Amino acid sequence: MRGSLRAVLVKSVSSLTSVPVDQVYSKSTEVPGTGLQWHGLPPIVSFTNSLMPDLSSPLPLGPITLPNRVLMAPLTRCRAQADGTPGELAALYYAQRASAGLIISEATCISDRAHGYPTTPGIYTPSHIEGWKRVTSAVHAAGGRIFCQLWHVGRLSHPDFQPNGEAPVSASAINSGGECSTPTGKKPRVTPRALETGEIAGVIEQYRHAAACAKEAGFDGVELHGANGYLPDQFLRDKSNTRTDRYGGPVENRARFMLEAAEALVSVWGAERVGVRLSPSGRYHGIDDSDPLKTFGYAVRELAKLGLVYQHIMEPMAPGDYDHLPVRVFRPMFDGVLITNSNFTYDKAQAYLKEGWADAVAFGKAFISNPDLPERFRRGGSNATLNAWDDTTFYGQGAKGYTDYPSLAG
Ligand SMILES: Cc1cc2nc3c(=O)[nH]c(=O)nc-3n(C[C@H](O)[C@H](O)[C@H](O)COP(=O)(O)O)c2cc1C
Repeated sequence: MRGSLRAVLVKSVSSLTSVPVDQVYSKSTEVPGTGLQWHGLPPIVSFTNSLMPDLSSPLPLGPITLPNRVLMAPLTRCRAQADGTPGELAALYYAQRASAGLIISEATCISDRAHGYPTTPGIYTPSHIEGWKRVTSAVHAAGGRIFCQLWHVGRLSHPDFQPNGEAPVSASAINSGGECSTPTGKKPRVTPRALETGEIAGVIEQYRHAAACAKEAGFDGVELHGANGYLPDQFLRDKSNTRTDRYGGPVENRARFMLEAAEALVSVWGAERVGVRLSPSGRYHGIDDSDPLKTFGYAVRELAKLGLVYQHIMEPMAPGDYDHLPVRVFRPMFDGVLITNSNFTYDKAQAYLKEGWADAVAFGKAFISNPDLPERFRRGGSNATLNAWDDTTFYGQGAKGYTDYPSLAG
């Protein structure tokens, strides 16, 4: 009786800890740090620690289960065809990275007014849908999962990208400063045109339409790009939004655009397949806010009320970012899955999971140069052998720096 009870306990502990049964029970084990011998199951302290998720632990994400917590961050590669259809090599590129717990696609434009960088893909025409179908099929055939990051650059566009050479649109007519990479070289950014109140429903409809196209293209879900100074971020922050209508003024109004866009995606996919990306500490592209903690605290809580399956909250990563707004500030504000990102190493990611500050970590540059990043981490941990990335091939055409990085399997 005692023996069979012990066998049951050993089996259940073993299944929880993923430790082989014969290692769970040893006749005589030292209790860590005490010098005492333990005759029986491992001490409770090590049992508790072993339940902490790590990068190789599965993660339930709505109706799907991610096999690990090493996610691929969204990465613009500027290799689409001129009409925004994913390029010929995109299916291979993403399939090579299918072992990511989840791939979040490169930012993908929701309409012809959403573009602001050369040869970035779209998801709003039949050709886009067919192109992305090739990608999602290849990823699924390789055992992976892929969400589509939905993008509108707003004021970061340029008349060279706009129909009839018109001004780009934004929350307010405020120039971000800086330069835009156009097909004919870098040009100073222009002052955008503030969207009329009556036009905003049309932009929200573009988000809905793009979400429906993403569904038809076979994605597993969508991520609203609410980070890095693009259109939803331009509405949210008070330095880029000086409107006086129901989309401007107090944070409840400034967050309305982002929330309506998120609701549009939910109307197509259901909340369990919609995530959002935010960069509360980021001050990219001339974006800023007079009270970012209040602004993002409100946005995070309201997005959570929509039941989104995850929030992807970036850590400070560039000089000038707000160091007082790390992701752990937002952790207590919602119950859902929290993905974080920006300059993570294996050790830093493991520490965040252990502390409970995040449930998964997205890796960007490391995934560009290491298509099999989860396996490299699994084998090598802190000492994983990683290919260095070549930033001269981040953007542009062709296989070099795109599909030619070696994996361990060769
Ligand atoms: C080449 C490149 C392209 C990127 N494209 C996107 C993008 O399309 N959408 C996005 O939200 N972030 C984009 N980012 C930011 C990354 O997702 C990520 O936040 C950043 O690289 C920091 O993570 P890392 O240190 O793991 O690379 C891009 C970054 C790089 C280097």
